[in-house]
Amino acid sequence: MPAIPSSIRPWTSGQTLTLDPKTVGQIGMYKLLISGVVPRPIALLSTCSPDGIANLAPFSFFNAVSSNPPCLSVSITRKNNGDKKDSLRNIEATKQFVVNVTPSWIAEKMNQTSAEYPYGVNEFSESGLTPVQSSQVMPPRVAESPLAFECELFDQLEIGDGSQGSTTLVIGKILAVQVDENAIQDGKLLLEKLDPLSRLGGMNYGLTRQTFELARPTLGSENPT
Ligand SMILES: Cc1cc2nc3c(=O)[nH]c(=O)nc-3n(C[C@H](O)[C@H](O)[C@H](O)COP(=O)(O)O)c2cc1C
Repeated sequence: MPAIPSSIRPWTSGQTLTLDPKTVGQIGMYKLLISGVVPRPIALLSTCSPDGIANLAPFSFFNAVSSNPPCLSVSITRKNNGDKKDSLRNIEATKQFVVNVTPSWIAEKMNQTSAEYPYGVNEFSESGLTPVQSSQVMPPRVAESPLAFECELFDQLEIGDGSQGSTTLVIGKILAVQVDENAIQDGKLLLEKLDPLSRLGGMNYGLTRQTFELARPTLGSENPT
């Protein structure tokens, strides 16, 4: 296991610049967010239309929200023309989705699913990823993903006025977790098996392969979470 990083600042800091989001503008803020909030895990989201046509798309404005009830969040922005993305249309219609965690070896296929296919095109077929029937929800999960969360819509929050950058924050309650038996040991997920891909700024991606351990400080008998 690599050592804890040195506690000496590795470069000389300068003065702090205060940036006003109004002056930076929507596109500038988007660039600051995607290059500043890093690394972001990538949810490969499966949804389906009410008549059962499967859709796949990656979302990196994605995170864990709570464990009771167990919830995840995904932020789905409007298309540049203001229309809702297919994933959101499907979630609003079916109230269901699957979050597939993205292992690095499917990076190119994941990327293929981000193309703006017309509504109703099956993106499993387009990307070559393999659908597997879910246990609790209609959208299939991705066989190549070692970890998937089957979710029902818990809540959604509209952020913005519908103009460019406006977003729907989707919160999903986890109904089932699907995990490859070789990626979990004694209830703990194995990072090297998940090999999670992350999104960085621009067109850059990260790998999560170097880790170190740092125990939480305890001030008494409390149990840090
Ligand atoms: C790695 C990656 C991460 C992305 N993250 C997001 C995101 O968090 N939110 C979003 O609205 N779009 C995101 N996109 C863009 C969507 O995947 C893209 O708009 C896609 O066409 C949406 O598909 P859909 O219309 O089938 O839902 C991301 C694309 C890539 C490649």
